[in-house]
Amino acid sequence: MRVLVTGGAGFIGANFVLRTLEIRPDASITVLDKFTYAANPSTLTPVADRVHVVRGDIADAAVVDPLVAAADVVVNFAAESHNDNSLADPSSFVQTNLVGTYTLLESVRRHGVRLHHVSTDEVYGDLDLDDPARFTEETAYNPSSPYSSTKAGSDLLVRAWVRSFGVVATISNCSNNYGPYQHVEKFIPRQITNVLTGIRPKLYGDGRNVRDWIHVDDHNDAVWTIIERGQPGETYLIGADGEVDNRTVVESILESLGRPRNAFDFVTDRPGHDRRYAIDSTRLRTELGWSPRFTDFASGLAATIDWYRSHSDWWAPVKDGVEASYAQTQNILDREGS
Ligand code: NAD
Ligand code: DAU
Repeated sequence: MRVLVTGGAGFIGANFVLRTLEIRPDASITVLDKFTYAANPSTLTPVADRVHVVRGDIADAAVVDPLVAAADVVVNFAAESHNDNSLADPSSFVQTNLVGTYTLLESVRRHGVRLHHVSTDEVYGDLDLDDPARFTEETAYNPSSPYSSTKAGSDLLVRAWVRSFGVVATISNCSNNYGPYQHVEKFIPRQITNVLTGIRPKLYGDGRNVRDWIHVDDHNDAVWTIIERGQPGETYLIGADGEVDNRTVVESILESLGRPRNAFDFVTDRPGHDRRYAIDSTRLRTELGWSPRFTDFASGLAATIDWYRSHSDWWAPVKDGVEASYAQTQNILDREGS
């Protein structure tokens, strides 16, 4: 199978490439990635002789078209993915998440190529902490941030191209991923690398917001399951029953690294901060037979902490810049709040 992986140098896309080389060694992989700040070129260096890497933009039809024409399936991971950045400047989110997905759709339509579109549970908005409900494929879209609204828009474009033009596509909406190669701007890697560099972890608001954590390999195995067994035109939710509040995650990281559990700071909350996400993945499990392998979040987190501890060469070059940018954002939020 010839697989075009867009965004294949980012966190989940690169893990998808590495996992595919392991479990589907006959697949021929091309990565199309713009190599924004979120990509780390060194992630794919060890497999450079087994993967064709193209530097380019999913919103550039001239680049996209010949790559799509030469593929059996396109897996779209490419996106602007960080909520905090979307609050500071939404423009690249509109361009990549909406115009980029549109450009891919027009190309798969022209060439009759299968698309799998990778999306997020954030399209459903948030839940109260005590709400017994979880998100299902039937939950109404209700996104909160520029990031999640552009992802929601991209999903709707995919659905429209399926219905109006007969494009063969599936969509998955997954919960929060953790694991190796995640950018240090994101919550778990940020707090691990904070502790490793002598900075106190930072919790937004009251720290009680809940995320539904899933290991990145479980997400990517689910994506392969949907590519191979999913019904064209359908949406599948991916989740591993991993609900944990942010404070508990930070306390676990501190404890694992031998620091007092209370050695963190509360900081000004993210504007519009979603309270809780929770996925009901019954459909994926019963109809397609997928189930997660990493069912114990504590041991998955411990392995992730070990990975960051032993791969400072991968993250250290960008750590200071990320923290300087967060400090600037916090100053603005503090000024606006006072
Ligand atoms: P990431 O930010 O780590 O990686 C995104 C990649 O896309 C980067 O390599 C970047 O260079 C590339 N990219 C950005 N704009 C591009 C463009 N215009 N053209 C080509 N490449 C471009 O993101 P991630 O966390 O790996 O997320 C991957 C996908 O999974 C996204 O679509 C995201 O919405 C979705 N998702 C993420 C999570 C999560 O917890 N991280 C959960 C559910 C869904
Ligand atoms: O739910 C899936 C989504 O998960 C994906 O679609 C996004 O691409 C991905 O970034 C993630 O979004 P979140 O906003 O949930 O992830 P983030 O890592 O930014 O934050 C996780 C939680 O931790 C959230 O409640 C905000 C909080 N947080 C984050 C940072 C960076 C803190 O308390 N302190 C921090 O320093």
